[in-house]
Amino acid sequence: MLKAVILIGGPLKGTRFRPLSLDIPKPLFPVAGLPLIQHHIEACAQVPQIKEVLIIGYYPQTDLAQFVQDMTNQYSDRLKIRYLQEFTALGTAGGLYHFRDQIRYGQPQAFFVMNGDVCADFPLAAMVDVHKSKDKALITVLATEATRHQSMHYGCMVTDKETNAIEHYVEKPSTFVSTLVNCGVYLCSTELFQTISVFASGACSVSAGNEDSYVFGSNHDVIRLEQDVLRHLAGTGRAYAAPTLNWWSQLKTAGAAIYANRHYLALKNNMGNLPTNTGGYTTLGHVYVHPTAKVHPTALLGPNVSIGAGAQIAAGVRIKESIILQDACISQHSLVMHSIVGKSAKIGAWCRVEGTPCGDPNPNKPFAKMDQLPLFNADDGRLNPSITILGCSVIVPPEIILLNSVVLPYKSLTRSFKNEIIL
Ligand code: GTP
Repeated sequence: MLKAVILIGGPLKGTRFRPLSLDIPKPLFPVAGLPLIQHHIEACAQVPQIKEVLIIGYYPQTDLAQFVQDMTNQYSDRLKIRYLQEFTALGTAGGLYHFRDQIRYGQPQAFFVMNGDVCADFPLAAMVDVHKSKDKALITVLATEATRHQSMHYGCMVTDKETNAIEHYVEKPSTFVSTLVNCGVYLCSTELFQTISVFASGACSVSAGNEDSYVFGSNHDVIRLEQDVLRHLAGTGRAYAAPTLNWWSQLKTAGAAIYANRHYLALKNNMGNLPTNTGGYTTLGHVYVHPTAKVHPTALLGPNVSIGAGAQIAAGVRIKESIILQDACISQHSLVMHSIVGKSAKIGAWCRVEGTPCGDPNPNKPFAKMDQLPLFNADDGRLNPSITILGCSVIVPPEIILLNSVVLPYKSLTRSFKNEIIL
């Protein structure tokens, strides 16, 4: 039996995803019609040995209750799903360690750890094969190639070319180490907990191997899986890489949601999971429309568009490369491109809401990943060209042009804007 843990962080994380994370926790942001971490759960449901998924974070229980209920209803035949709340941010290994008894309950042979902000075609079954083939493996890390320059934004590892044993690990190095980077998806043996207690910062002074002597609530209660555990396991023959060529990305910025939406739609389509268009409207490429959304037959959607529950798309509307959230309303003949339209936002007739695709991987560079550009350019402080984002309940009157702008929730616009953040 196997288990999976999804690490979702808490309200203090996901700041680069604002304003979208102001009204909905980032892990629940819908991408290709599913809350972000439902894609993780979906991948777990495809591996028959996984029986339980534990979501660990420090969001209040109430933020996750409805989602956990929905997931339980949907996957009850295959998976048990629970949310475990940390009392404070304990770090990527601290939460695991704090809830180690819950993870070990039922004696799973191993457990997956998945960063909640990873978007990928998760090769979980292949990771099980790699982990099983290494007798001494405490942790198997999913790894992908990045470009030389981009690799420094990730955890870099040097591996033995024959065995894939991790010889050296550096998180976000300041100089080049390796193009093989950590994907934030791990398969761990339960003995890893003894190692965590030894390697955790501050825990080294307690008797080695005695995991119960580690005290939470001290200054040392943040334990990072990457820096405090993996780095020390490198070179011991207990950590291995499982390289993959599958699509992999992270969701750090709002622009990354458009990129992830495109890839998850393509994956859904390949698996035959995209609902067929029964509304009579025209689509181009991959499009997801929630069954309760209303789309006028003269609207043209796609490619790479997701429309949320209860959204209303009027006659003659054109939408491409965008995510329209729940209950948003787009009136006649408006155009929405490279944008995210927040929950219950209203766009009047004959508007143009357009953003700039940002940070897409350079197709001419093998293994290039998406650049997660900050909102402002660090050199001159200017707004980087970005997708256009309308926060929840924003009202855009008719005949407005909105280009590369971010509108905070509940704002009613009175004129057109270009390259601005509207507070
Ligand atoms: P950044 O580029 O700085 O965001 O670094 P990163 O990609 O290495 O991300 P980070 O290590 O901060 O987080 C990885 C994943 O773990 C994310 O899904 C976070 O939400 C989650 N995470 C981070 N810190 C905590 C924590 O204290 N508790 C829990 N449960 N999850 C966490």
